[in-house]
Amino acid sequence: MATLRLGDTAPDFTAVTSEGTLNFYEYLGDSWGILFSHPADFTPVCTTELGTAAKFKDEFEKRNVKMIALSVDGAASHLEWIKDINETQHTEVNFPIIADVERKVSDLYDMIHPNADSTLTVRSVFIIDPDKKIKLTLTYPASTGRNFYELLRVIDSLQLTANHKVATPANWKNGEKVVVSPSIPTEEAKGIFTKGVEEIKPYLRLTPDPTS
Ligand code: BEZ
Repeated sequence: MATLRLGDTAPDFTAVTSEGTLNFYEYLGDSWGILFSHPADFTPVCTTELGTAAKFKDEFEKRNVKMIALSVDGAASHLEWIKDINETQHTEVNFPIIADVERKVSDLYDMIHPNADSTLTVRSVFIIDPDKKIKLTLTYPASTGRNFYELLRVIDSLQLTANHKVATPANWKNGEKVVVSPSIPTEEAKGIFTKGVEEIKPYLRLTPDPTS
């Protein structure tokens, strides 16, 4: 199994999930996708993460992103765990959780890092664009829950920069000024970004978010 890198095609698979058997590509259709793994069912941090993900579903949907989670326990276990998640996190889990008992998807996506834990998946995140290319990966250890505001923020950046010749600076949030792509000379940038281009250095030019 090769390491998956940015720009690689996300491998397709068919898997049993908490919502029945599904094919990954068919599930995603023309949407963006976020595939994220969890070390195990009935664990505290994962319980809060899945509850949070469920509460963020509307925000992901607004961005045309479909979520799918993974844990190496079975579907029956997932269904019991979902009851606990719904009860304790005051939500309804509203996306599939892959039951990766045989570690097929975990292996395909290199989600088991043996020097961290030889059997459980780490907290991997893969963000996949509508062409099924991997646009972003994150890896957190079991002991650190992920920040779902950050996942929305990076999706906003990925979608903006896919369509405009800009990049997003440190700590950027949707609607804030963006950086003009280094490949565009300032004079040309002024013609493209009609809301204005602020040249701080020849290589550091800011412009208002072209979509806002
Ligand atoms: C958790 O989700 O709480 C967790 C899972 C595995 C190891 C440590 C924490």
